[in-house]
Amino acid sequence: MSGRTVPSQETMRAALALACRAPSVHNSQPWRWKLAEHSAHLHLDRSRLLPTIDPTGREMVISCGAALNHARIAFAAEGWLARVHRLPNPAQPEHLASIEFSELSEVDPHVEALAAAAAERRSDRRPFLTDQVPQEVLAPLREVAGLESCTLTFALADRDRREVELALEHAGSVQRRQPEYQQELAAWSGRHASAEGVPARSIPAEHLRGMPERDFSLVAEGELPVPILDDGAVLAVLSTRGDTFDDWLAAGEALSAVLLSATEQRLATCTLSQIGEVAEARNEVRAEVLGGSGNPQLVIRIGWPVTHEFPGPLTPRRPLSEVVEPLFPGD
Ligand SMILES: Cc1cc2nc3c(=O)[nH]c(=O)nc-3n(C[C@H](O)[C@H](O)[C@H](O)COP(=O)(O)O)c2cc1C
Repeated sequence: MSGRTVPSQETMRAALALACRAPSVHNSQPWRWKLAEHSAHLHLDRSRLLPTIDPTGREMVISCGAALNHARIAFAAEGWLARVHRLPNPAQPEHLASIEFSELSEVDPHVEALAAAAAERRSDRRPFLTDQVPQEVLAPLREVAGLESCTLTFALADRDRREVELALEHAGSVQRRQPEYQQELAAWSGRHASAEGVPARSIPAEHLRGMPERDFSLVAEGELPVPILDDGAVLAVLSTRGDTFDDWLAAGEALSAVLLSATEQRLATCTLSQIGEVAEARNEVRAEVLGGSGNPQLVIRIGWPVTHEFPGPLTPRRPLSEVVEPLFPGD
């Protein structure tokens, strides 16, 4: 033990770069890291709000929660326990978390595996294999969501799965009729050579027709997608007890924990958030799948990828110089 109370600049840079591999709505990366002498602080960057799909900023906070969970794992894998104080100042809700550090005597190999998963995870929008995902593989995913005070409900029965698909279709059909939705989606998708947004190569257009997913390419404009019922994907609903800033932050931490745990088990995943964006769809999922209680935040598709090679390169991220202050020397 060196007796240091804060990671070196090099460690800080590596850990924050990994934290920024977190998923975010439309790859908007709505986070800002502020470094102090003995602590690091996560702030919400409201300038990155998506006003049509996310007027309250719920999905931005979820995205930041995912970055916070990634950060905890990234620092732990570098030998630092990150002690998180969530929403430390009620008068400043954009200040989502402050992090203090203490050096660990050893690094847990499981945490190292999760950090490796964070470096390689990506949203896989292709259909998955038809092979079922066994209960013993799913159970740890429910557990890690529970550790973040959230509930992961697997829609395994045909009826439940159908209800989730119907809710996704319903949300999609409502949104497709909104010109401002189409404009916002177009502004954030299909981008080439950009450090933000969903790149065209992450959208397997040939597979999109028929998927109950957000149609980033707008290929099915005006049509109701017919869900594929015969791939082996499990649709999991992530829900929270309340629906406040704290719940959204927890939902993001749980989302990250589930995605990384799934990636570690070689599963492919994709987050689908439309059920939380259209009130009727959210109510349908609450009533039909969650037995009338809880707040569905998003759906995660989980399944075996078509090949064990993940598709294409990683989605890009903004450089640390745009999301960390003060700048690291040389940035
Ligand atoms: C809150 C949230 C909502 C998302 N909603 C969707 C969605 O509805 N459909 C989709 O295909 N991807 C969705 N994503 C995945 C993002 O598009 C993806 O994380 C981002 O483009 C970065 O790509 P990556 O996950 O491959 O790193 C969502 C992610 C988050 C965190």
